[in-house]
Amino acid sequence: MTTNPDQQGSTAMYDRSTQVDRSADSINFGIGQPDFALLPHALMSEVAAERFAEGDTELLNYGFPQGDGRFRWALAEFLRRGYRAAVDPQQLMITAGASQALNLVCTLFTRPGDTVFVEEPSYFLALRILQEDHRLNAVPIPTDEHGLSLPAVADALTRHRPVLLYTIPTYQNPTGRTLPHNRRQQLLALAEEHEFLIVADEVYHLLDFGSPPPPPFAAHADSGRVLSLGSFSKILAPGLRLGWVQTSAQLTRQFAASGLVDSGGGLNHFTSNLVRVALEGGGQKDYLEELRRAYRQRVEAMDAALHKHIGDRATWTVPAGGFFFWLTCADNIDTTALLDAAAGAKVGFLPGPRCSSVGGLDHCLRLCFAHYSIPEIEEGIRRLGQVFDTFQNPP
Ligand SMILES: Cc1ncc(COP(=O)(O)O)c(C=O)c1O
Repeated sequence: MTTNPDQQGSTAMYDRSTQVDRSADSINFGIGQPDFALLPHALMSEVAAERFAEGDTELLNYGFPQGDGRFRWALAEFLRRGYRAAVDPQQLMITAGASQALNLVCTLFTRPGDTVFVEEPSYFLALRILQEDHRLNAVPIPTDEHGLSLPAVADALTRHRPVLLYTIPTYQNPTGRTLPHNRRQQLLALAEEHEFLIVADEVYHLLDFGSPPPPPFAAHADSGRVLSLGSFSKILAPGLRLGWVQTSAQLTRQFAASGLVDSGGGLNHFTSNLVRVALEGGGQKDYLEELRRAYRQRVEAMDAALHKHIGDRATWTVPAGGFFFWLTCADNIDTTALLDAAAGAKVGFLPGPRCSSVGGLDHCLRLCFAHYSIPEIEEGIRRLGQVFDTFQNPP
């Protein structure tokens, strides 16, 4: 048996989203990842075999800087159907996931100390990339039940000159909320007037459970103000490390000309070649339908369990897509302390302050419904209800 510490990351216990142990008998709704049991092993092994059988020598070579051409055409067609809007393959820059895309955006368009606007709350690991890795000055913009508050953006613009605004407009992480069409239009107008970039992290856009969301910011790629980040992590598998940026042809060229790409070639050439077969053959589309069905059932199960075990001790809205419920508890509940109590009951969640660029929102918490089966969701929420029953804030 190996004892090499470098191989520790190869176990399924790896949990990048919280420091909470993912041991077999605990149910940690803080984990914002797909269920391992739902991952598309059969599909990926079929498309890999098919792609290798094509037998060309380019598969294992360095890739084209902007991303493999045939893959970009297949992706553009897939997105055109999903977005119900034209997608130009020349406006797609292939990346190794949305996280890498965000990192590259910061490298290319920001300098340490620059101001960026972020939603309050936001995706906590994106905040790390912005605030810690790139030392940007993140200014939190309040959100309401429909996402980013546009009067608050306009107000902040009287005091700051942001380089970019980072938003998760659809089925947001952590709130599950979606920005309505009119607010999207207003934000685009403000970006034009005040000359900042909208970095729209649209990784959940295609993961609706019923009616589709408003058109994505990607539909405005031509404007030169929008960088839309997409990813296969939520619609196929995160281990593939495959995503894209959709933006104007001019900005796309800037990505492709970066030193990173110049040295390493296209950012995920090999995987994109396998996924291309899944796109062209319809496997990706069918798998996404399966995911939507499975997640819709999990949302319903979590909502029912929350009503049964949490009741009026928190408020929430049922997400129409994505991965997350966002619970607002009574003002006097400190969810960081609640998490300590929950560890004893072998249940976990992500406390609100982790999702805040300024450490606020301590009476809120995020629950992911994507990672566990329905019986586990029911059991986990039952445990959480018991934690609420006995919890008292520390003095
Ligand atoms: C909003 C958001 N952006 C990006 C990511 C990470 O995407 P990727 O795996 O493509 O880097 C996540 C995953 O949790 C997410 O929720």
